[in-house]
Amino acid sequence: MSFTYRTGELCVEDVALSEIATRYGTPCYVYSRAAIESAYGEFARACAGRDALICYAVKANSNLAVLALLARLGAGFDIVSGGELARVLAAGGEAKKIVFSGVGKSAADMRLALQAGVLCFNVESEAELERLDAIARDMGVRAPVSLRVNPDVDAGTHPYISTGLKQNKFGIAIADAPRVYRKAAALSGLHITGMDVHIGSQITEIQPFVDALTRVLEFVDTLQTDGISLEHLDLGGGLGIRYRDETPPPVADYLAALFKTLGDARQRVLLEPGRALVGNAGVLLTSVEYLKRGEAKNFVIVDAAMNDLIRPALYEAWHGVLPLQETPPANTIAQHYDVVGPVCETGDFLAQDRLLAVQPGDRLAIMSAGAYGMVMSSNYNTRPRAAEVMVSGRTAHLVRRRETLAELFDSETVPIW
Ligand code: LLP
Repeated sequence: MSFTYRTGELCVEDVALSEIATRYGTPCYVYSRAAIESAYGEFARACAGRDALICYAVKANSNLAVLALLARLGAGFDIVSGGELARVLAAGGEAKKIVFSGVGKSAADMRLALQAGVLCFNVESEAELERLDAIARDMGVRAPVSLRVNPDVDAGTHPYISTGLKQNKFGIAIADAPRVYRKAAALSGLHITGMDVHIGSQITEIQPFVDALTRVLEFVDTLQTDGISLEHLDLGGGLGIRYRDETPPPVADYLAALFKTLGDARQRVLLEPGRALVGNAGVLLTSVEYLKRGEAKNFVIVDAAMNDLIRPALYEAWHGVLPLQETPPANTIAQHYDVVGPVCETGDFLAQDRLLAVQPGDRLAIMSAGAYGMVMSSNYNTRPRAAEVMVSGRTAHLVRRRETLAELFDSETVPIW
């Protein structure tokens, strides 16, 4: 565990979070290098002896320090935009280890990725296939492609983060996929390299993954009879983490089940974990501004808000809330509170109905905020985005300074009417 109380102080590795809050201010995201390395290590160990590439899903947390750390560990990357491509390259990631996913790749982004020489494009529609073919021919190259198939499997997760059902916008229906593969094979700007499947996120059971893979494998056999062979199978991401009382399978069990289902399939395996690598490696630090007694509820008003961490507002996600000092201030009685931010929206809450003993000025950690936290933040209410800190042992590194007010409207102009 990278976040634990030591002599009454909540610490990340060997640093007290209160020191970080004082030094860099709040709201502030803090990540543990050891936690990321350990989560990556679990994947790497479970893949030992296999031809496998762990392509970290950059969307989960795209801070350069996180990317550089994972690149150093040997990770590949799953990107969804030219912006993410630029970040990965800036952080020292190798183009040859990048897969490019997403339903709406722009022509400009396709060009950037072809120039860089990415490992593969995960194509999600026929229209995209045609665009990629035309661009690759124009550039005089062949684009490596994998088709993302939609296996119509229920991942049992929140509807907003479920992607493998036929009503979702993602992938190509498995029934349609043989025809689309034949079409791809006939296009001279493309080179078919693989197939990919991703059924959703925060999945806490193994079975949906196994079901999806089983469907994919049946289909790989059909393709082979059509003379189309694949170099790799990309099994996507989606493994859940514990926020509250969820019991996701250990990484080793999840991968053992997938490898068992793969049987003697010879293809290289790609994986696209995001949340499982960084989710529990980060927290959001915030300070209590006010306590407010309402008629029906009590509120802890803090300086972080939905613009910093939107998951509670968007998915009714539950994040733990821990005081940085384990012992409450003297004469403070624990009460049930909603933890809310300063943003002018009723949906601006970080936690609801929590038993807390706090006073104004106290600092809190919003737990498990390493994935889909900072990356989904915004400037709503003209709030500068938070600072980000990465801790390694005894050292805290500022890996993104807090935005300044000037930066917030630097790029705006008032027309001369
Ligand atoms: N691969 C693809 C094609 C994806 O769309 C995603 C996530 C991943 C991999 C990584 O999934 P993970 O291992 O992190 O579950 N903002 C939401 C999650 C959205 C996930 C989108 N796609 C949240 O905060 O829960």
